[in-house]
Amino acid sequence: MRILSTSTEDLEICSRLLKDGDIVAIPTETVYGLAANALDSKAVEKIFKAKGRPADNPLIVHISDIAAFEDLCVPTKEAYMLAEKFWPGPLTMILPKKPIVPTIVTAGLDSVAIRMPSHPTAKKIISLCGVPLAAPSANISGKPSPTRAEHVISDMKNNPFVAAVVSGGACECGVESTVVSLTGEHPCLLRPGAVTVEQLREVLPDLTVAQAVLQSLPETEKALSPGLKHKHYAPDAETVCLCGSTESAVRYIENHKDGKKTVVICFDGEQSSFADCETIAYGSPEKPETLAENVFDALRKADVSGCEKIYVRCAPPNGTALAVYNRLLRASNFCVINTEELI
Ligand code: TXA
Ligand code: MG
Repeated sequence: MRILSTSTEDLEICSRLLKDGDIVAIPTETVYGLAANALDSKAVEKIFKAKGRPADNPLIVHISDIAAFEDLCVPTKEAYMLAEKFWPGPLTMILPKKPIVPTIVTAGLDSVAIRMPSHPTAKKIISLCGVPLAAPSANISGKPSPTRAEHVISDMKNNPFVAAVVSGGACECGVESTVVSLTGEHPCLLRPGAVTVEQLREVLPDLTVAQAVLQSLPETEKALSPGLKHKHYAPDAETVCLCGSTESAVRYIENHKDGKKTVVICFDGEQSSFADCETIAYGSPEKPETLAENVFDALRKADVSGCEKIYVRCAPPNGTALAVYNRLLRASNFCVINTEELI
């Protein structure tokens, strides 16, 4: 796997690789994506192989202009309203697909997920290629998403399917794009992200939120978004989410000592309260964007430390913190403890 910079010369090499049917990890404002020419089924197949991704989990197609949007799907009035307000940026829309989109990209569904990223490097790469790029997060399936080039290198370094990674620094949002489906009677949030429910409702007051955003799906329930049913974001160590005050969380950990090597992923300023454990501070609940930016990096750092157990402090799930909470629910396999209730 080659490591490319964001120089014009290297981005030309990157777009040549993509046009030739190779796959390349590229930075976006949300997380690093593992990109392929979305119109080339053979290239897209390499993405599924490289990630070990189940074939029933469809991919997001990345574009750099509205003309491409109209080539790939049938946009509704709501879609244009969202595009006007939030593109380019961390919002993905699900719309009825046009036949040009290969079946492998949409996992056989008759809808397609489309996003116009705002990251200057991602934009440049899509324009240079002149084709839309299918790109899931560039992690091994099930692992925390990569928000730094180092994360991609750690997951993909010996992967025969990945031709290169473009090293473009840390991703600004740190969690994947907000996903909104526009195929049903009402617009529906399938995955929370940096574009919040509150912001979306300013444009689409009738937006609903899929049950799976905050709950684990019963086995029998058909997922609106196939990605919601797969194991996600999980570190190797057992992970437990703790909601409540610092004091109640400290008490909970003290009362549940089990001799396991433990890391606490805590809020800024809480480190000294968890003095008995190794800590990784990941931001402040008052600035939930900081939590989003660092959550995957913190989960990965905890794993690298070789710990057996991770406690993660959770902020109330409003605004951007909803996206963080949604990822932590899945990282912990829905193991969430309200430490206030136990006092
Ligand atoms: O921020 C992002 O969205 C990143 C960057 C690289 O753009 N990409 C990303 O892709 O997070 P991925 O594959 O990790 O997540 C895509 C999600 C999955 O949950 C998938 O099931 C859902 O979008 N999805 C894709 N196409 C869909 C469709 N037609 N209907 C419903 N859900 C769909
Ligand atoms: Mg992913």
